[in-house]
Amino acid sequence: NEKKPLRGKRVLVTAGATMERIDPVRYLTNDSSGKMGYAIAEQAARMGAEVTLVTGKATVAVPNGVKVIRTESTIEMMDAVLSAMDEQDVIIKAAAVSDYRPAEQAPEKIKKTESEMMLKLVKNPDILQAVGERKKASQLVVGFAAETHNVEAFAIDKLKRKRCDLIVANDVTVPGAGFGTDTNVVNVYDANGLVLRLPLMEKREVAARLLAFIADRLTKGEITE
Ligand code: C5P
Repeated sequence: NEKKPLRGKRVLVTAGATMERIDPVRYLTNDSSGKMGYAIAEQAARMGAEVTLVTGKATVAVPNGVKVIRTESTIEMMDAVLSAMDEQDVIIKAAAVSDYRPAEQAPEKIKKTESEMMLKLVKNPDILQAVGERKKASQLVVGFAAETHNVEAFAIDKLKRKRCDLIVANDVTVPGAGFGTDTNVVNVYDANGLVLRLPLMEKREVAARLLAFIADRLTKGEITE
């Protein structure tokens, strides 16, 4: 089907920023707007997919026609992704995940004192890597990478380490790319190198072109009789 190339496919997208609680009123987070992931979820639904959007904090409205699971911390996001992953055909990890979380969450608001304060952080699990380890051969896993230098080398290294099929790399030093903007500039890599180059364009357009590429890969993987 020309217009609905993802009909019958299940696509899970993560988007937005994770939030790691320090106490009931404070947390650690990042500048992710959720725009890239939400655009992917919206476009995948338009292309006929059954879409699950696992979202952290975002500044844009959730798209229509997708199932939304709201999460806060990295661990919550991981639980949501792992419990939904088995029935998915495609998993796209566009969320900006916190690499660390406070070692302890204070049950009550931390009070100011006269002295300095140390905040101990512990490592968070890597959701993409956990997905990569559990994935079936028929599932396509797509990661994102925000890099400032050596973009290609780091992207391919990340792809291999996290066992994903595609990495969407954005060079966040390029004007119009990365956090908060409505546009992006990306290169997509598989284990053999560059497979898709998308110059400066709207995130919606990036989503459409990326998903068209993914739909094509899925079809090529199928056995036709
Ligand atoms: O290693 P880095 O954070 O740059 O990798 C980015 C990719 O890994 C993104 O797809 C992001 O969603 C995912 N990631 C994750 N869990 C983490 C850290 C990153 O799923 N703890």
